[in-house]
Amino acid sequence: TLGRGDGLSDGRDGGRSDRGERPRRAVVMTMGALHDGHLRLVERAREAVGKAGQVVVTIFVNPLQFGPDEDLDAYPRDLERDVELLTAAGVDVVFAPDRDVVYRGGDPIVRVSAGTIGEVLEGAHRPGHFDGVLTVVLKLLRLVRPDVAVFGEKDAQQLLAVRRMVHDLDVPVEIVGVPIVREPDGLALSSRNVYLSADERAEAVALSAALRAGEAAAGEGRGPQEVVARAAGMLNAHPGVAVDYLALVDPTTVEDVGPAYSGPALLLVAARVGTTRLIDNLAVDLP
Ligand code: PAJ
Repeated sequence: TLGRGDGLSDGRDGGRSDRGERPRRAVVMTMGALHDGHLRLVERAREAVGKAGQVVVTIFVNPLQFGPDEDLDAYPRDLERDVELLTAAGVDVVFAPDRDVVYRGGDPIVRVSAGTIGEVLEGAHRPGHFDGVLTVVLKLLRLVRPDVAVFGEKDAQQLLAVRRMVHDLDVPVEIVGVPIVREPDGLALSSRNVYLSADERAEAVALSAALRAGEAAAGEGRGPQEVVARAAGMLNAHPGVAVDYLALVDPTTVEDVGPAYSGPALLLVAARVGTTRLIDNLAVDLP
């Protein structure tokens, strides 16, 4: 039977869900062009359900979350290689549906709204993006029916939006976040990194370097303004990096923190290097 668990299993149940007979199931949703960041999510999914559980990876370049001037058609696709990587990683099921399977009979009229989360930061630069993300995430949750869904902290605003959807709309799934996987020099792994020329790749390190500069300022006891200024200084030293935003926000609301804020915060950056848009973020503890 395919009765679903409630995601509350402690993992000592031999991979069985608490309810029903089927194994516990974890999903990793991707747009393909897989890299070690995605594969880390797959490992985490296996940890969540155990050997007897099922790990499902979805590969779907979701048109709904791309703006009219974005890289939907150019987005890197290599299904054969992706399936090879996932087979080697011990994934049980790869679900790579065509557009018509996901959006039967055209784009959906009824969609999920990310609300205010969808209007700031990434959402301000990509109108409708998070509504498109949440709509496909909810659809894929309905199609796959996992107990656990694993997302990367690389897309911190996306992870927050998914957590809020699950909370606000009572979606019966456990959401697990995974820390960002980086290159040795700090660049966050991204499917879009393949667009970078050698010169651009060298400039791209400015994003993670800026976040670490901000973190160091906080470590020295500086407040929010100094943290942002320190990060901005690093970005300004790289003329090849065009900043879309640099923000220090409350990690639970993605609202900017005030100048007197202390406690956990998230430092986020989005920038274009050549024509490639990159994002990164780092948790920063403000004294
Ligand atoms: P995609 O960009 O392919 O990313 C799939 C998942 O991998 C996301 O949860 C993302 O945060 C995670 N990820 C990407 N790079 C990572 C890195 N360097 N370290 C850790 N995790 C990383 O995000 C999407 O696809 C889509 O919006 C999707 C959720 C599939 C909906 O269409």
